[in-house]
Amino acid sequence: MDIAKKRQLVCCLTAAVFICAGTLAGAGEQKTAAAKTDDVKIEDPENELFQSAVSLFKPLARDMDSPRLPFKTERVALGRTLFFDQRISATGKVSCAQCHQPKHYGTDAAQSPDTGNALKSRNVQSVLNASVNVYNNWYGDQASVEDQAFSSLTSPLGLGHKSSDEAIEKIRAIAEYRGLFAKAFPTDKEPINVENWATAVGAYERSLLTPAPFDAYLEGKLDAISRDAKTGLRKFMSTGCVACHNGIGIGGSSYQKFGIWSDYWLTTNSSPVDKGRYIITKDENDLYTFRVANLRNVTMTAPYFHDGSVKSLPEAIHVMAKIQLRKTISDEDVKDIIVFLKTLTGPLPNNFSPP
Ligand code: HEC
Ligand code: HEC
Repeated sequence: MDIAKKRQLVCCLTAAVFICAGTLAGAGEQKTAAAKTDDVKIEDPENELFQSAVSLFKPLARDMDSPRLPFKTERVALGRTLFFDQRISATGKVSCAQCHQPKHYGTDAAQSPDTGNALKSRNVQSVLNASVNVYNNWYGDQASVEDQAFSSLTSPLGLGHKSSDEAIEKIRAIAEYRGLFAKAFPTDKEPINVENWATAVGAYERSLLTPAPFDAYLEGKLDAISRDAKTGLRKFMSTGCVACHNGIGIGGSSYQKFGIWSDYWLTTNSSPVDKGRYIITKDENDLYTFRVANLRNVTMTAPYFHDGSVKSLPEAIHVMAKIQLRKTISDEDVKDIIVFLKTLTGPLPNNFSPP
């Protein structure tokens, strides 16, 4: 791509933020707390920052249920039990929680092996706030946490079964699940089935939200984040990070090329090189595109990028500035941005632990 085209793309991206910011937040099915904007004066810079922030980002919903997927306590409880149960994997030794560990904020902090004992091809994404992402997985090839849970049954980056039927047989053979599924899906004759598996695990994931100081800020509590965090927020916006990292997930809602200004692997030393969404779409336009990372809890989820090729957050931010925005930013700017990113870390949900 020539420079003019690249520049055009970046401009489009920047413009897109302003056009999309409102609609992005509506994507997914969620109840968003309304920002209280009325009681703040217009002229002062504090308020200007706040107004820009609420136009680009949205606070986390209280929960992520919807009429289509009603939130039932029994389903969340069942999903929690399934999430931490090793017995239901192909080998009987792996649970979702092995790779999505509470102590690492829903990731595994390492390139540990997949269920086939091969080195994992991709860095683990967090299950925390995964339900706010418009697409799931690095390729964004799953449309919801329910679809993702379904695919996890047979994925080597999941429970590793040969077929979803095989997985369901394994769950049916465990006596305690008969009662638990029957309670969660009382009108079904044979409640242990693939669809209910996905609904229950999805319901649990929809409960795994981590409201953070930045949400309180977006809801109008202007002193919920520090002065330094506000400096970082300003830099995050003025540097152009918001072109891709916006909405409820501060990302998670669009596909973008990783390496707009230069090939990513030249900077990250990634090997092998992952061709991104091209692998599933075979469309040249999707070469090296990935779902934009959701930046909630990002200070807790090293290493970074789809292949975990970058170990530290400051380095990841330098990479982003360089290859996504063609900007060199100072260490001080990076430090300030990190102070802001820390305000996206919330406490772990109480139910993110074995039942
Ligand atoms: C062997 C490790 C492993 C296991 C076990 C595992 N996962 Fe994952 N999970 C991953 C990896 C790696 C990714 C990124 C996958 C990709 O991009 O294709 C991921 C992605 C996800 C995502 C997408 C998050 C996002 O931001 O889009 C969700 C949700 C998820 N897993 C849920 C689960 C559930 C539920 C289970 C259990 C049924 C499970 N995982 C089991 C490794 C694992
Ligand atoms: C043109 C779109 C775009 C811009 C601009 C952009 N990013 Fe990203 N960002 C992405 C994509 C896409 C990924 C996922 C890349 C991958 O791993 O394949 C990502 C990943 C990240 C990650 C890694 C998260 C993780 O969990 O692995 C961080 C941190 C990050 N971005 C911060 C920033 C910061 C800070 C800025 C501004 C300096 C910025 N980004 C600008 C698109 C963008």
